[in-house]
Amino acid sequence: MRIYKVKDYAEMSRKAAAVMAAQIVAKPDCVLGLATGSTPIGLYKQLVEWYKSGDLDFSEVTTVNLDEYKGLPKENDQSYYYFMNDNLFSHVNVDKSRTFLPDGTQPDAEKACTEYDEIVRATGGADIQLLGLGHNGHIGFNEPSDVFKKNTHCVDLTESTIKANTRFFASEADVPRQAYTMGIGTIMSAKKILVVASGADKADAVYKSFFGPITPQVQGSVLQLHPDVVVVADEAALSKCDL
Ligand code: GLP
Repeated sequence: MRIYKVKDYAEMSRKAAAVMAAQIVAKPDCVLGLATGSTPIGLYKQLVEWYKSGDLDFSEVTTVNLDEYKGLPKENDQSYYYFMNDNLFSHVNVDKSRTFLPDGTQPDAEKACTEYDEIVRATGGADIQLLGLGHNGHIGFNEPSDVFKKNTHCVDLTESTIKANTRFFASEADVPRQAYTMGIGTIMSAKKILVVASGADKADAVYKSFFGPITPQVQGSVLQLHPDVVVVADEAALSKCDL
């Protein structure tokens, strides 16, 4: 595992965007595993800038996202479908028919999850998977549990995740209680994993994920078993790590 300790959010965004960009330049028809949340927004902005300056070309890229709220219509501005279009897809030359997320509008969880696993399998899997970390160490929406789940599944979000995500909604009551998420097996089968973290509120999750015991109670800790992980985190997020 390679850990880049950077000064702040802006530096984290630039450095992590450079890792993503290197992947796109090295393999223009790559599969990008993408993530939502506030942490990767600066990274996406940087990628858009590099696209606009002619340094990046997304025309052959395929994307698979980690997760989606269950029950939110696509046009809801808090759906991850909306987020990805708003932050990246609408600003670069990616072919939108090759951008994939779990279908949060599919009420039949088994169908939604099986179909998404099929889609990811058909792409050949992610060359690079971008990940943020939840406060409890979750990746995607894989919440603390007694097991690591392999495939896409429907999760009940924990109270702490619902609270953390309330800031994006009008009220806590509006936050969806369930989501579809890629499983740990799929995440771990990405060839490379890029984790971004910023801020003191992530220090615990960062420490436990990368230096604590490997346990499904901290789902991010499984990343210690992956052969090619790059972590880009700022000083505040790394403040509990002895680096
Ligand atoms: C959500 C997403 C995760 C994300 C996490 C952290 O729960 N499902 O993919 O990593 O939030 O979000 P943020 O970057 O806003 O702290």
